[in-house]
Amino acid sequence: MALSSKRFPMRQVHVVRHPLVQHKLSLMRSAERSTQGFRRLLNEIGMLLAYEVTRDLPLEEVEIETPLSRMKTPILSGKKLVFAPILRAGMGFVDGMLDLVPSARIAHIGLYRDPKTLQAVEYYFKAPPDVAERLVVVLDPMLATANSAVAAVDRLKERGCKELRLVCLLAAPEGIERFHGAHPEVPIWTAAIDSHLDGHGYIVPGLGDAGDRMFGTR
Ligand code: PRP
Ligand code: URA
Repeated sequence: MALSSKRFPMRQVHVVRHPLVQHKLSLMRSAERSTQGFRRLLNEIGMLLAYEVTRDLPLEEVEIETPLSRMKTPILSGKKLVFAPILRAGMGFVDGMLDLVPSARIAHIGLYRDPKTLQAVEYYFKAPPDVAERLVVVLDPMLATANSAVAAVDRLKERGCKELRLVCLLAAPEGIERFHGAHPEVPIWTAAIDSHLDGHGYIVPGLGDAGDRMFGTR
């Protein structure tokens, strides 16, 4: 569903309320969830969010032959996809999404948040040569200050990308505000909008540090 409330006027924020997504997100939030369980759930939610973010992709009719007769039938048309995970945690969505869209290309965007300034620091960027001609779906489970997502989209726009979408798992209201302040035309898909950011830029109630929980680091 698209949210166009007083808080986020005219900007597209799709909150995915599918029961499976909500159930799996609740399991992920629990501090007791194991690294293995967290990773598996992120992968499964990735697949479900891929279904939602591709819901409006254009189709064209082609003619094929079934074993019984000829028929016209729809296939995907328009731009091909690139999934662009923000490292590290964005990688958690990739396998699930590729299960649904196996032909998609991948752009890796290496960013980390400086813990003092909360600014995004780039350490890696590698995108397919034709990325500018494709629909790019930026992936990051956490939209907190949005410094990382804004930097990722800035970088992709520098490479000529024009059609972009952002998929996250959890968003803070402050992050949505900041992201759409910088990139108002880029729609967001998220499983939930949480309450606020704490003094260290963590989403509350959130789920903690997504990268650390995925990889068992600290
Ligand atoms: C986390 C998360 C996002 C970013 C979100 O990454 O995966 O990329 O923070 O925060 P922001 O919206 O305030 O920028 P982190 O920097 O911890 O790196 P990691 O994924 O390698 O752990
Ligand atoms: N990054 C995370 O992994 N978690 C947060 O709550 C904020 C940023």
